[in-house]
Amino acid sequence: MSGIFITFEGPDGAGKTTQLELLAEFVKQQGLPCLTTREPGGTDISDRVREIILNPAHTEMAPETEIYLYAASRAQHVHEKIKPALDKGTVVLCDRFVEASVAYQGYGLGYGEDLIRQMNELATGGLKPQRTYLIDINPEVGRGRMNGRKQTEFQTDLDRIEQKELHYHQRVREGFKALANSQDHIHPLDGNQSIEDIQFRIRKDFKRLVETKKD
Ligand code: TMP
Repeated sequence: MSGIFITFEGPDGAGKTTQLELLAEFVKQQGLPCLTTREPGGTDISDRVREIILNPAHTEMAPETEIYLYAASRAQHVHEKIKPALDKGTVVLCDRFVEASVAYQGYGLGYGEDLIRQMNELATGGLKPQRTYLIDINPEVGRGRMNGRKQTEFQTDLDRIEQKELHYHQRVREGFKALANSQDHIHPLDGNQSIEDIQFRIRKDFKRLVETKKD
């Protein structure tokens, strides 16, 4: 039996991590095996790559390097963690995946969707999520939330990607919107709604997804 692969996406500060954790609680309440993980990261090697990518001191990083590093982190993550869990029938909830690269590197950096998809085809072996919950938020609102969050965690610095100019994050948001219009597996959600309302919609959709799988 193969599991269910679900990813969460959206501009920084959209609230996807909170929604992922709430869905994980629900999946476990249903008695289903559940794995939560994130990108970039999720394995020792991938976490090391994450540190390199997001380090604010790495201002000299070439965009091509950034694209390859996200894909490299992902390749290890799929190979070592996601694929084995799915093969065992686990529900895998992943904070970001290929759609993030399409939005941030494809649209944000201007490399286009096709190139990013081609590169990630090799990294993922063609693995695609059955569902992506895409939470939309205006990047200005998202940034305000991030700033508040980092201060309460006693971290004053945003990471290298979060620090990029607002225009970059606006291109990323447009990228996500374009994906929502072209990909059937993407379920768009309005990040201005309450945490409870968004989670209600996610759980409703998830229940339907599980039912369809049983058929
Ligand atoms: P996170 O804040 O969701 O942990 O992600 C870290 C940052 O990396 C975030 O600003 C989005 C960015 N990112 C990309 O630019 N491309 C990718 O492929 C992924 C997975 C994340």
